[in-house]
Amino acid sequence: MNFRRIYNRLSRTYDMRHTSPTTLEIRKKEVPLVRRFASGRVLDVGCGTGFHLPLLKNITGMDISEGMLRLVKSENPVLQASAERIPFRDRSFDSILCMFSVLNVCNYKKAIKEMQRILKPRGIAIVSVASIWDLDYDSLTEKKKIKLTNEMKKKRFQVSGEDVELYLFSKEELVDLFEEGGFSLKLFDSLFILQKPRWGDLTRFSVREKIRLRVERFYPKEYGCIYLMVFRKL
Ligand SMILES: C[S@@+](CC[C@H](N)C(=O)[O-])C[C@H]1O[C@@H](n2cnc3c(N)ncnc32)[C@H](O)[C@@H]1O
Repeated sequence: MNFRRIYNRLSRTYDMRHTSPTTLEIRKKEVPLVRRFASGRVLDVGCGTGFHLPLLKNITGMDISEGMLRLVKSENPVLQASAERIPFRDRSFDSILCMFSVLNVCNYKKAIKEMQRILKPRGIAIVSVASIWDLDYDSLTEKKKIKLTNEMKKKRFQVSGEDVELYLFSKEELVDLFEEGGFSLKLFDSLFILQKPRWGDLTRFSVREKIRLRVERFYPKEYGCIYLMVFRKL
């Protein structure tokens, strides 16, 4: 799967999702986390069209898709490169952002290793990903989700005629991956947003949906379909 090509194609319509209620809900959680935890020299891995770049001063954006980067409006520097091979020296950043599903679409093991390499000791990585709860509610019972195999965690769909596959994480798995990569978990949060067909829908939520959204917030956090995590490099 060539995500550079996929996002080059998607880039023309990508910013439209910023008016979607689901995206707005995610951003409401991401922005305070970035403001609270990111400091010093920051790298935004998979910055896309640069949503998070205006939030910080000393930040560099990096993305695999030149189409996405062309739409960045921020004055901060950006470069085209892959999360799997980051063209910066060891221990050269204080904080890393890797937001809004980047880890779901790249080789996450390589990306985590690279983040560990370029972060200074005690550096911070802020990530948001789609979780296994982003699979359709109807097709999977809670019990099945707990027993999901890696193959079942792949969510496949088509975007503009392209096959897309997201790898969805359980909380335990992502925490293990980061811990094995030399990080410790500092903060975990999640977001309940309604599943397909609402995902990315540009219409407003109905009153019933809004009530459900509020009620879902009292469920255990692991059940959220977007995970937000802050890790500290040991
Ligand atoms: C859903 S977008 C998120 C963009 C941005 N972080 C945001 O919050 O709007 C995912 C981004 O990951 C980028 N991406 C995918 N694979 C990548 C890789 N291996 N290295 C760097 N960026 C990658 C895509 O080009 C795309 O811009």
